[in-house]
Amino acid sequence: MCGIVGFVGESQASPILLDGLERLEYRGYDSAGIAVINDGVMQVEKTVERIKSLIDETQNGATVKGNIGIGHTRWATHGAPSHANAHPHLSGNGKIAIVHNGIIENYLDLKNELIAEGVKFVSETDTEVVAHLLQKYYKGDMLDAVKNAAKRLEGSYALAIINTDTPDTLYAVRHFSPLIVGLGKDGNYVGSDVAAIIKHTKDVVYIDDGEIAVLTKDGAKFYDGDGNQIEKPVSVVDWSINAAEKGGYDHFMLKEIMEEPEALRKTIEPRIKNGEVYFEGLKLTKEKVKNIKRIVITACGSAYHTGIVAKYMFEEILRIPVEVDLASEFRYRNPIVNSEDLVIIISQSGETADTLAALKEAKARGAHVLSIVNVVGSSIAKASDDVIYTWAGPEIAVATTKGYTTQLAVLYLFGIYAATLKESCDKALIDELISELSTLNKKIEKILENKEEIARLSKKFCTDDSVFFIGRNIDFAVSLEGSLKLKEISYIHSEAYASGELKHGTISLIEPGRLVVALNCYEALSEKIYSNIKEVTARGAQVMATAFEGNEEIKKYADEIFYLPRIHPLLCAAVEIIPLQLFAYYMALNKGCDIDKPRNLAKSVTVE
Ligand code: G6P
Repeated sequence: MCGIVGFVGESQASPILLDGLERLEYRGYDSAGIAVINDGVMQVEKTVERIKSLIDETQNGATVKGNIGIGHTRWATHGAPSHANAHPHLSGNGKIAIVHNGIIENYLDLKNELIAEGVKFVSETDTEVVAHLLQKYYKGDMLDAVKNAAKRLEGSYALAIINTDTPDTLYAVRHFSPLIVGLGKDGNYVGSDVAAIIKHTKDVVYIDDGEIAVLTKDGAKFYDGDGNQIEKPVSVVDWSINAAEKGGYDHFMLKEIMEEPEALRKTIEPRIKNGEVYFEGLKLTKEKVKNIKRIVITACGSAYHTGIVAKYMFEEILRIPVEVDLASEFRYRNPIVNSEDLVIIISQSGETADTLAALKEAKARGAHVLSIVNVVGSSIAKASDDVIYTWAGPEIAVATTKGYTTQLAVLYLFGIYAATLKESCDKALIDELISELSTLNKKIEKILENKEEIARLSKKFCTDDSVFFIGRNIDFAVSLEGSLKLKEISYIHSEAYASGELKHGTISLIEPGRLVVALNCYEALSEKIYSNIKEVTARGAQVMATAFEGNEEIKKYADEIFYLPRIHPLLCAAVEIIPLQLFAYYMALNKGCDIDKPRNLAKSVTVE
């Protein structure tokens, strides 16, 4: 959740660290800090505001000299966002500074042990124990100290470490939290993800669990947990700095919504060849796909919502049971999964702690794990038997948009691929779905051309303090995501309901003026949703509906209608979510919310 960055090289470190932190701010924004060594002296600067204020206070780093340093942006877990709890944390003698992403689960035991040895703690964090442990184990060889301290830690961590006794060397170590090393011309970098360092280099090394990286201005060396030197491959990142900048938009969220057609094109096009779905390099054999009896999907947040869409589609065309489970529930409920099952893991970041734990649980029970991931080289991608990447490019806004639709695209492709092999539905339907999928990006472009209409609707409804989203079948699955988008960025209370369920309780909350967003693209059930709309309008609700172009009937029931280009109903989620993403965006804009960094949230949830 937190973001870490480090640099050692020819240039002044602090401007590089501050720029890196700004790019990592989406990982957490409760407080921030940097530590830099200059002439053997450690300087630490922190803020409990946003990184911008650290930039202002240090005159963009000008007041913090030195060519080696580390930085951190925090999403608070242990202790409130305060100066004392902000990273970097120092050892008692002030010589060692560390930044940490993750949670040290045995920190209380370690803290008690260190207190008994006379160590004084200044923060409430779990992290501080690591700084003191490093001092304890440092006997003149810092690599040794890192190795020995890491062996005492339980939980998850990516740590970047500097020591005034070794003022030319930066150390980093990881266990269950993301960490990359960037190899540049004028120095070398560590970061939680590529966004932190892409401005400086595209050559990166993905650090694996238990490994230690030792960086100087001239290069990087890598060691296993026992201190043996190892060789690591260098990968070249295939996106550029522009992809991680706003490019003229006021917010990353709007930029990323506008990028959806292109992200979908990139995700879908290479996987359709000669009218058939094709995946490169899957270990999952065609024979195994033919014989899958059950699919279990597990994920968190919006990724979980794409799993629910997939359940409706897969069960329709594969005619096998599909279970969708929240990863945080799956991992702790003794799940019934075995080698007969295909487990699909979905994650934009590839680092979500619960999702990763669910993956490990599924693998331990013998299931084949196929993951759908956006971030190349992420922990989930590495731990899976097979990965199908969504080619969405970097997603920076905390609220996912292109991440969600590209996950849907991969699920659609996989569903069609499996149905073809299993011969579980008509060939004509498969051909239609493939041909429709190829038109998805153009259809979304058309919706985006009409985004001012959504802006208008949001002005009409922006004073509402509670909104209900209703739908049936795939429309219900989409309503879950539409509702989540609205509440996460606009802070307006909203709920999503399968519309048939309304009358079993929720309808008591419908009162005059209440906004109900009725989703109506799954037309096989239109008559049913019309009845549900009548039930709420009879109680004074205002209804904003989605519908496919040409649906005149809906005009009889809804106050406002947002028309969408027609697509096969099994694929309707990917078009229907676009106005809902825009609606959440404009509602939050009208309310003056911090759209890209909603309160209390972080994009990459690396703690459970
Ligand atoms: C966070 C993000 C959500 C995301 C969820 C799962 O809560 O704010 O947008 O859906 O994590 O993330 P993942 O990276 O696993 O898709």
